[in-house]
Amino acid sequence: MSKKLAAGNWKMNGLAASLAEIDALAGAVKGAGCEVLICPPAILIAQMAAKAKGSNVFVGGQDCHPKVSGAHTGDVAAAMLADAGASHVILGHSERRADHGESDADIRAKAEAAGAAGLVRIICVGETEGERDAGQTLAVIGTQLDGSVPDAATAADTVIAYEPVWAIGTGQVASPEQAQEVCAALRTVIAQTLGEDAAARTRVLYGGSVKAANIASFMREPDVDGALVGGASLVVDEFAAIIRYQKHVGV
Ligand code: PGA
Repeated sequence: MSKKLAAGNWKMNGLAASLAEIDALAGAVKGAGCEVLICPPAILIAQMAAKAKGSNVFVGGQDCHPKVSGAHTGDVAAAMLADAGASHVILGHSERRADHGESDADIRAKAEAAGAAGLVRIICVGETEGERDAGQTLAVIGTQLDGSVPDAATAADTVIAYEPVWAIGTGQVASPEQAQEVCAALRTVIAQTLGEDAAARTRVLYGGSVKAANIASFMREPDVDGALVGGASLVVDEFAAIIRYQKHVGV
């Protein structure tokens, strides 16, 4: 069983002054039983990585372009993230799927580029409220997973994040049972393509309105291997409490 992962997604939030959060988190992170990752806006990665050096905090990007380089104004290549000090990259977040029309095939191409650059990719999947109400949750996330995870993925280079769209930034958190059901289903799909052993070792995160007050209920579920945290990762005390919880239970 791999260590749990507490990943913070700052989205389009944070200025250079926000990097002080790394110092404030250092105590919480010391000796933590989980891995800790923060994904700030790309422009802060280099500074954050320099600050996080030696602190057990990993730094990641929030997206990358599928190509290595070229005429793609405004985009960032995976190798550029790695060069700036990133070790991970979030791909296929529902906000990117919605705002930028990213398809599963786009996400797979980005995931391949991320892997080639040596980044661990965190591939996000999740259903909308309408899809859940229509009983399509497992079909939707199965299709997303099949379409977006590269065939050569391994437990070491790929993390899956289950993020129901209706729970992101809404305060309308999934129940632990809902998270467990979908994370277990994702692991079953992973087992079909990558094998049982890789599936058991692949980290499957839950994300969507995770906070210090509800982290415990998710981490008790056997197929939830950590959390992808948006809003609460911007509040030092909240994120520190999420990390500390995972330390206390010794997972
Ligand atoms: P939230 O976002 O924690 O603010 O709901 C989660 C995410 O989008 O990764």
